[in-house]
Amino acid sequence: MEPSEEFLLKHKGFYFLPDLVTPEYIDSLEDFEIRDCDVFVVTYPKSGTVWTQNILSLIYHEGHRDGTENMEIIDRVPWLEYNIHNMDYVHRPSPRLFTTHLPYYLAPRDLRNRRAKIIYVARNPKDVVVSYFHFSSLSVKLETVPDFNSFLERFLAGKVLAGSWLDHVRGWSTHRDEFNILFLTFEEIKKDLRGAVLKICKFLGKQLNEKELDTVVEMAAFDKMKSDPRANYEFMEGNLLEKGKGHFLRKGTVGDWKNTMTVAQSERFDNVFKEKMKDLSLTFIWDI
Ligand code: A3P
Repeated sequence: MEPSEEFLLKHKGFYFLPDLVTPEYIDSLEDFEIRDCDVFVVTYPKSGTVWTQNILSLIYHEGHRDGTENMEIIDRVPWLEYNIHNMDYVHRPSPRLFTTHLPYYLAPRDLRNRRAKIIYVARNPKDVVVSYFHFSSLSVKLETVPDFNSFLERFLAGKVLAGSWLDHVRGWSTHRDEFNILFLTFEEIKKDLRGAVLKICKFLGKQLNEKELDTVVEMAAFDKMKSDPRANYEFMEGNLLEKGKGHFLRKGTVGDWKNTMTVAQSERFDNVFKEKMKDLSLTFIWDI
């Protein structure tokens, strides 16, 4: 069954939010002019997008001591495909930071020439599907699916916002040589936040002193972000999130899928995963 058009726009094999984008705009992004100093956070939903956006803007804005603490995260690292605040992307001062869920084949063509930098964050898909299920019942933009099993089947069939997790990760991973890309996993950031921040800094060619590094790590920690209204999209209450139903930052752990998936669901998942990903060398941490 195809997902409801009220909630999802299908364009070029990918699912978008219909009230925030048009097919013409998506097509135009292929010609979006890239600057060498642009940086993109690329993720499949529920893989640590806001976390990475926050880390990136903390690194660039020196722990937000320069006034950017008053800006929403989506204004610091805005969505390429969802220009929610109608920003003038073309004339934004450098370095421009962007976020996208786009699959590799819809990304701006210029990125293919290894111009600009991409930080791709992947998360073990069992935690992704559980996080996504909770988010679907929290978000007014997404169709509420009555039970986890129905959601799991939709997820495995790729009939959710941003399509198939398997295709997204496979696409970006197998085409990584065409891009200037740093591949990270949610789990490695979780295991060693400081190490991940240093890795990102090295990739970006940014040098932070110990104090600046401490600030980034402190401000990107789960508890700190959980209590930050900006990290929780609170300004979009009623518009993205349903009021009073929960927070965008939920648990932020590795292995939470075990609290939701039955043994049968986990085995069903493993079978699809093994079949579709068997030729890839990617390994995921399923629990810490
Ligand atoms: P959970 O629902 O498992 O808690 P995205 O931003 O891509 O939508 O991802 C959201 C997920 O990342 C949520 O997962 C959220 O809690 C988690 N997350 C966000 N910031 C985090 C942080 N600082 N530390 C750990 N997890 C974080």
